[in-house]
Amino acid sequence: MTGAAEPRSLDVDGEQVVRMTHCYRVAAPGLQCRTAAASEHRAPSQPPMITRRLATHPAVPVVGQGTWNMERDDPTAVTDALRLGIDLGLTHIDTAELYGRGEVERRIGTALADRRDAIYLVSKVLPQNASRRGTVSACERSLERLQTDRLDLYLLHWPGSHPLEDTVAAFEQLITQGKIAAWGVSNFDVPDLEALSAIAPASAIACNQVLYHLGVRAIEHRVLPWCRERQVPIVAYSPLGSGAFVPPRSPGGALLAKIAAEHGVEPTSVALAWLTRAPDVFAIPKATRLAHVRSNASAGDLRLTPGELAAIDAAFPLGRSHRLPTL
Ligand SMILES: NC(=O)c1ccc[n+]([C@@H]2O[C@H](COP(=O)([O-])OP(=O)(O)OC[C@H]3O[C@@H](n4cnc5c(N)ncnc54)[C@H](OP(=O)(O)O)[C@@H]3O)[C@@H](O)[C@H]2O)c1
Repeated sequence: MTGAAEPRSLDVDGEQVVRMTHCYRVAAPGLQCRTAAASEHRAPSQPPMITRRLATHPAVPVVGQGTWNMERDDPTAVTDALRLGIDLGLTHIDTAELYGRGEVERRIGTALADRRDAIYLVSKVLPQNASRRGTVSACERSLERLQTDRLDLYLLHWPGSHPLEDTVAAFEQLITQGKIAAWGVSNFDVPDLEALSAIAPASAIACNQVLYHLGVRAIEHRVLPWCRERQVPIVAYSPLGSGAFVPPRSPGGALLAKIAAEHGVEPTSVALAWLTRAPDVFAIPKATRLAHVRSNASAGDLRLTPGELAAIDAAFPLGRSHRLPTL
């Protein structure tokens, strides 16, 4: 590392973000980057990216890469997109055994076999497989397809009929075996979270991955406060509305375009920065087109002003429904 300590300090909404020569360190309660060795952070040549602690990992980028439906894309394009994303700091890779019935995990395994140590790899077990033995077997199948011996995070894709006790016991077994570093859940509404927290301490739940974008803010009513109170991070899925992004000619679209122009980014980057404005929210946009990957990476260090956040908040009302929406 050259140039030693030459931090540029930003104070945004009470959250201090210090740009080091090798990474961003977010200095706020519960968010400190606890890794002492600079070698574990981003290389000086990599573009800036805000990182936050997620489960056992001290520095996961706030913007990652989703992979749903990538089995429909050209395999070479998928490889190129994932690898470019990693080069640009989008090292949080989200997948699931569901995606393409394992084909997406296979593609990730092929594309990233030589990049395993550079990524934060997340997969999910289907609820119908989430029995005590079924969860372990499903994880082992995912590991094989992904060409790795460990996942950084393993999620229950949505609540199912197998007892949560069994799924959690399997998750803990997988941790003991070194096959996963942490576990979490997805699509859990408050009653599901309450049931889970009767079985496992909230501190064991690495995250709740839920639908969250500018057009669907229902988690802000109940799920987000429940998780925030217990320091369970949120991972926002479909953060760009699954391809149905805010129309540019709508009032909200015009606002995003104006803010984007001021920052020299795309409106989608503003949307991602808005989602990750709080210190406990990550976003995992899926992008196969390289221009999209580059654009999403540009959101990784984008900080919106309080005025911009307030304007976006007003343009995209919260809505009334408290129920957790899912896809
Ligand atoms: N846990 C769950 O139940 C669950 C459910 C849904 C999704 N997820 C996860 O969340 C990830 C993201 O959600 P998603 O795939 O539904 O949708 P998304 O990320 O909201 O949107 C993906 C779509 O937006 C396009 N796109 C990406 N970046 C763009 C940009 N900068 N500008 C314009 N368009 C852009 C993509 O096009 P190209 O691909 O052509 O570039 C793709 O068509 C999934 O891939 C998956 O990993 C989890």
